[in-house]
Amino acid sequence: MKAMTKNCNGSSDTPGELPIEALTGSVRDFQELRGSDLIGRVQPFFDWQDLRRQHDLWSYSKATNTAPTSHSAATSDSGVRTAGVNFASQDYLSLSSHEAVKAAAKAAIDEYGVHSAGSSALLGNTRFSLQLEQVVSEFLGFEHTVLYPTGWSAGFGVVQGLVRPDDHVLMDILTHSCLQEGAKAATRNIHFHGHLNVDRARQRLARIRANDPNNAIMVITESQFSMHADTPDLRGLHDVCREYNALLVIDVAHDLGCVGETGHGQLGLQNMLGDADLIIGSFSKTFASNGGFVATRSRAVKEYLKYYSATQTFSNAMSPAQAASVLQAFEIVRSDEGAALRRKLMDNVLYLRAELGKARLEVTGVPGAVVPVNIGTEGSARIAARRLAELAAIVNLVEYPAVPKGNARFRLQVMANHNKKDIDTLVRLMATAVKEAEVLFRPYGQELAATAIPTPIRQSAARQSAAT
Ligand SMILES: Cc1ncc(COP(=O)(O)O)c(C=O)c1O
Repeated sequence: MKAMTKNCNGSSDTPGELPIEALTGSVRDFQELRGSDLIGRVQPFFDWQDLRRQHDLWSYSKATNTAPTSHSAATSDSGVRTAGVNFASQDYLSLSSHEAVKAAAKAAIDEYGVHSAGSSALLGNTRFSLQLEQVVSEFLGFEHTVLYPTGWSAGFGVVQGLVRPDDHVLMDILTHSCLQEGAKAATRNIHFHGHLNVDRARQRLARIRANDPNNAIMVITESQFSMHADTPDLRGLHDVCREYNALLVIDVAHDLGCVGETGHGQLGLQNMLGDADLIIGSFSKTFASNGGFVATRSRAVKEYLKYYSATQTFSNAMSPAQAASVLQAFEIVRSDEGAALRRKLMDNVLYLRAELGKARLEVTGVPGAVVPVNIGTEGSARIAARRLAELAAIVNLVEYPAVPKGNARFRLQVMANHNKKDIDTLVRLMATAVKEAEVLFRPYGQELAATAIPTPIRQSAARQSAAT
């Protein structure tokens, strides 16, 4: 097999011709910024990113040229166009193109215009958003729901809104950025436990409580993790929280509506409905719209969040079209049609996982709409991502620090409207791309193993100091 691919300039890269810096390093290398020049000090990141872009090895910031359906057309950040099977959009029940959801959005626009024109703390509520609060509460068996403009703002806002500097936050090491950033904004007492490790969570809680019997502890996890697709023992974690007078927050962004016979996700599958303390979620994966929520049993918590959770109080509310779309999506999620879509999604997921396994590609997690395919070394994964786009498959690559170093992976996102042929196509293309990438990357891997390659940041620093 000849490993040769075309870069975005139309020229070909053969083994040994790609700059090693484009195959190594991570965004984490450029996170620390030092010096007085606020603009100039971000240049090293751009130099590294642009080198990757020049070789079409920067697979982020793609744009779709069509609706995000099972087949789509997309343009990469380097301007390369791909048209083919799409496993990179989050629309798990394929509701974003559902005629009833589109009609609901259009009717809401006709009635209200396109904008909510205010924070929900002022005049941003509409009859759609008020009804949506009730529908979410009913679906989860909670009394109250607070809507947020995005899932991210709900995650950030619930932590920042309820936790104070003397309190503690204990999180699974892989919890989503919104929750980690919320914790950073609220307190310096942030603790992590190993991924899914309830015993470690118990040990940490015991230590925190022994040292501090007086302040609150918020424990945070996800029902299905967004990059690993695995799920914690929610009941176990809940019981540990009770033991140490801590409160459990569960982020259900990736499985609510789309997993389980009734669409209650891991909360339903683990018999936790009715027992969870606080639930946060996003509408952007299954419910066809931007938007997020916090569900609670306490009217006081709801009212408090409305005025003390910055992303709720000081941000514009979901638009009428968004709230109406989610309402209609919920109607489908709760109907027989929703159950049929979930079965179709799960059939696709199980078939995809089995076919990837047959192609000797490593899949992790438990069955759900997110299917992570581990590739390993970042360099090899970047080449495979580029090759997949050339072969006409749209997928998302995720790298450190979103996942552990050396564990780069494709995060496939399955939709109900995919079919077996789409999945066969994807698996065939992915197996080809990964094999070719391994061959193309091999000499770099050997070079990296044999020499200590300077990290891009050190090189950039050297370039900078040479220039000054
Ligand atoms: C676990 C988790 N929580 C929250 C969010 C944020 O949701 P949204 O993209 O709707 O803002 C995401 C999505 O990226 C997520 O994966």
